[in-house]
Amino acid sequence: MSLVTWSFPTTIVFGNGAIAQIGDRVKSIKGTRALVVCDAGVVKAGIADKVRKALEGAGIAASVFDKVDPNPIEKNVFDGVAAYRSHGADCIVSLGGGSPLDAGKLIALKVTHERPLEEYDDAIGGDAHITSNVPPIITVPTTAGTGSEVGRSGVVTLPATKRKTVIFSPYLMAKVAILDPELTVSMPPRVTAATGFDALTHCIEAYLSLGDHPMADGIALAGTELCAKHLPRAVEAGADLVARGAMMKAAMMGAVAFQKGLGVCHSLAHPLSSEKNMHHGLANALCLPAVCDYNNGIVPDRIERIRRIVDPNATSLSNALRQLREKIGLPNGLGAEGIVKADVPKLADKAMEDACYRLNPRPVTREDMVKLYELSL
Ligand SMILES: NC(=O)c1ccc[n+]([C@@H]2O[C@H](COP(=O)([O-])OP(=O)(O)OC[C@H]3O[C@@H](n4cnc5c(N)ncnc54)[C@H](O)[C@@H]3O)[C@@H](O)[C@H]2O)c1
Ligand SMILES: [Fe+2]
Repeated sequence: MSLVTWSFPTTIVFGNGAIAQIGDRVKSIKGTRALVVCDAGVVKAGIADKVRKALEGAGIAASVFDKVDPNPIEKNVFDGVAAYRSHGADCIVSLGGGSPLDAGKLIALKVTHERPLEEYDDAIGGDAHITSNVPPIITVPTTAGTGSEVGRSGVVTLPATKRKTVIFSPYLMAKVAILDPELTVSMPPRVTAATGFDALTHCIEAYLSLGDHPMADGIALAGTELCAKHLPRAVEAGADLVARGAMMKAAMMGAVAFQKGLGVCHSLAHPLSSEKNMHHGLANALCLPAVCDYNNGIVPDRIERIRRIVDPNATSLSNALRQLREKIGLPNGLGAEGIVKADVPKLADKAMEDACYRLNPRPVTREDMVKLYELSL
């Protein structure tokens, strides 16, 4: 019998007002000078200032670095390393959606790791070069989607690979994740909807992916249920802390679950961001129904189990997802976001370079990628 490894190690602090603990948590990892990595939207929402003040109130010297793009690029990482050094920082507080959370991990990596970023690419086994001497990271999500707060990977578009490059290592994991639903209340409805669909896609793809991981499966199903029940409410009534809290849990659970693996939906989504700058969660939302139909012949029992959770009245899982998408105000195809048939060949080439589809339950060829994009138009 082959052996498998299962691990769920992050310390997670959850609850309204949890951010008040940030100072003590930084001290607990022996931090004295923190670089707060965020983006312009997080600053505008007043969250960066709140966190800086909480850190300073606890005697931690904090400097805010907000130069992270949505869909981070290599320059964001290099600029962040310069900011870390000029502040004399000894730890990182990553604050924001997946973009700053990922950038924070990669800034931490590059503080102590000399190689060019592309040499750490997961697709070529780059994790072998990542050692334990990465500065400590605390993650504070302000969206409920990527789950990057508990994940082991940072995603960045590099000039050398010209694609969204996943850099992956247990050493990039946060020492502590602070999940405060109040920090997500300022997310506009469209961002709530798109990020929430990312969480749902993680749960569904993880549950369907190849591999034997009963714990990940259980967490993925429970996360799917939270999304189905609470995402519409979080979009429609952004101040509802019950819905916001449920979505934060679902996002975190999705990322725990996808330690098992993801699937072809993420391989389709990544080029839509790196080539077309589409939001990651939106890209998933637009491709997921076609992917579920594609996988149905191979894992019908699993698809049926998810359909019953998402919408027991729907005629198929793909229809249930389309209806949910519409209910939360997302468009009904890639065409609505300006993608045309002529874009598909290049997108398909890029999708084949992505590693996620390797764990899809049904094998995927380039022609399949083309078909899946066309079906999602
Ligand atoms: N590491 C992983 O495992 C993983 C998994 C999935 C996606 N990702 C990556 O994460 C990124 C996407 O992250 P995301 O979906 O969280 O979006 P994001 O971080 O790009 O944020 C989207 C927008 O929302 C704004 N925003 C964030 N929080 C807000 C708040 N509370 N109030 C108001 N505005 C707010 C941001 O400023 C930004 O403009 C992509 O780069 C994707 O590739 C990583
Ligand atoms: Fe994702």
